[in-house]
Amino acid sequence: MKISRVKESRIGKVDFDHLSFGTTFSDHMLRMNYAHGAWQEPEIVPFGPIQVMPSLSTLHYGQTVFEGLKAFRNRKGGVNIFRPDMHAERMKHSCERVCIPVINNERFIEAVEALVDLERDWVPKARGTALYIRPLVFASESYIGVRISEEYAFYIMTSPVAAYFKEGLNPVRLMTSGDFVRACPGGLGEAKTAANYAASLLPQAEANRKGYSQVIWLDAVEGKYIDEVGTMNIAFVKDGALVTPPLEGTILPGITRNSVLQLARHWGMTVEERRISIDEVMSSIEDGSMTEVFGTGTAAVISPVGEIHHKGKNVIVNEGRIGPVSQKMYDTITGIQYGEIDDEFGWVRTV
Ligand code: COI
Repeated sequence: MKISRVKESRIGKVDFDHLSFGTTFSDHMLRMNYAHGAWQEPEIVPFGPIQVMPSLSTLHYGQTVFEGLKAFRNRKGGVNIFRPDMHAERMKHSCERVCIPVINNERFIEAVEALVDLERDWVPKARGTALYIRPLVFASESYIGVRISEEYAFYIMTSPVAAYFKEGLNPVRLMTSGDFVRACPGGLGEAKTAANYAASLLPQAEANRKGYSQVIWLDAVEGKYIDEVGTMNIAFVKDGALVTPPLEGTILPGITRNSVLQLARHWGMTVEERRISIDEVMSSIEDGSMTEVFGTGTAAVISPVGEIHHKGKNVIVNEGRIGPVSQKMYDTITGIQYGEIDDEFGWVRTV
């Protein structure tokens, strides 16, 4: 792969002891263009501005998808990338949904590995930190008619990050979305496309104003069943079973969600992928049968939920503390990511 290196690295200017999420980017990025009916050869270049026309079709019609995965410093040496194969697969499905020519999984993984290999010094060392990898594909044609673009650009950038939420592993407060919906059946919900996040901004801002971290999205048809949370999937521990909404098209098929379900089954827990209504959640927290609620996501990892607000009523989960299942999930997943626990599921690729 062609690599044009920066003349001088910016790494010395980064305060690795005080990282935030998504503000610092490493020296290089990978880019690959799609033209004449095929993806061209990728190359790695210095991270920096890209020139686009105001008529870039993505800016108008949102034909774009992205991914988010992480690389961790393996305690035994090397850098661990967590489940790049699943991210490649999900990006393929997202691309298909918005008519973007797919990048095959091998090519995606090779591209991620090449960039992480070059940027390995940017992978932070402290527990709780990681190198966040953001692949992005967008329609790059300069054309303002509504049609499937004939040209695309694929970029991968990397960013050393700490916890996504300021709360870290402390429980977050969530509220239901009121009159807003994130995705409806047949819509874009299961694709990782920009539109879903644009739809989330107004209700998210309202939740933040009221002192909540994120919104719980209810289904678009009945406004009754839980879909997911702002930037995460959601799981519940009820009567000792792990319950999570099923993948029926409106929620994002999370890679951390998948890992949590595999672990729960492996530990012998009952796993129920089923519709769960907000009324069931509120009443089972109140009667004590629901003992834990937690969000799952690449950026958020495992995020315990301490409080839920719905239609003027608040319930406190597990006295506002992280519960044993959430803690064990967090410890096991991060243990595998940092190479401290055996990777018996084959989730990690070390570069
Ligand atoms: C992720 O968890 O990787 C996400 O993509 C969430 C977000 C930062 C948009």
